[in-house]
Amino acid sequence: HRHLLGIEHLKPSDITAILDRADTFATTPDSRAVRKDSLAGLTQINMFFENSTRTQASFEIAGKRLGADVMNMAMQASSIKKGETLIDTALTLNAMHPDLLVVRHPNSGAVALLAQKVNCAVINAGDGKHEHPTQALLDALTIRRRKGRLQRLTVAICGDIAHSRVARSNIMLLGKMENRVRLVGPRTLMPPGIEKFGVEVTDDMETGLKDADVVMMLRLQRERMDGGFIPSEREYYHRFGLDAAKLSHAKPDAIVMHPGPMNRGVEIDGEIADDINRSVIQEQVEMGVAVRMAVLEMLGEGRG
Ligand code: CP
Repeated sequence: HRHLLGIEHLKPSDITAILDRADTFATTPDSRAVRKDSLAGLTQINMFFENSTRTQASFEIAGKRLGADVMNMAMQASSIKKGETLIDTALTLNAMHPDLLVVRHPNSGAVALLAQKVNCAVINAGDGKHEHPTQALLDALTIRRRKGRLQRLTVAICGDIAHSRVARSNIMLLGKMENRVRLVGPRTLMPPGIEKFGVEVTDDMETGLKDADVVMMLRLQRERMDGGFIPSEREYYHRFGLDAAKLSHAKPDAIVMHPGPMNRGVEIDGEIADDINRSVIQEQVEMGVAVRMAVLEMLGEGRG
């Protein structure tokens, strides 16, 4: 593969190869960060047209730990503000001969369009409601390390599925690896026709969480709700917020995940988010660096 635009086009063996390589970056005998120079001499540009804390920081750290020259474009201060288009901006940066371009954009499909116009490797860091492949890969690595496998698990993905690229990428990845995926949330926040992806759908948390191995919570993406149904936070927390009572329906050793950013007291109780026996939220962030190192190194190979 020349780019990483989504999970959709990956085979199960591609996913396993990325996770295996990421594992080597996640584990050191003395818990220190792994550093290599496999991307020495390569230039990585991060272009984030949408806010980010975790993804942008971890791509920057990942590139630097592999020896790349990493540049973060401050898109708010760029000539996009003067009317330059996404494609013209990309062509301008392409003329400076980057090797790796990491792009987040609010429009679904924008990153794939950009990838057709440039001659470097492009990584999708989240495009609209479409895909967020490195998030699904870091979630998969976290699950595999905690559960010892990435097959035959029951995974409940809960909340605003309709607006979530994280949900889409996870549904595809977990399905390809032969897991049972349940989507739990209000009908109004469920994408029409999602059952065709082989998932079970329910609007009842008890049914959805019953005997789950993994409970993945998502935030309400108000910035993508264009005037449609917006639930009140109190009512939403009551019906769909993860608290101890709802979590008691999952397996006793079920892990709790959240891609972040999380809204405590809306989709998840703060105490559960902080419970080191159940929550793997900080481990997800840690695995984010390892997965992004693996993806950058695999796409950077042969470009040196
Ligand atoms: N999970 C995730 O993509 O977080 P950021 O928006 O902070 O990058």
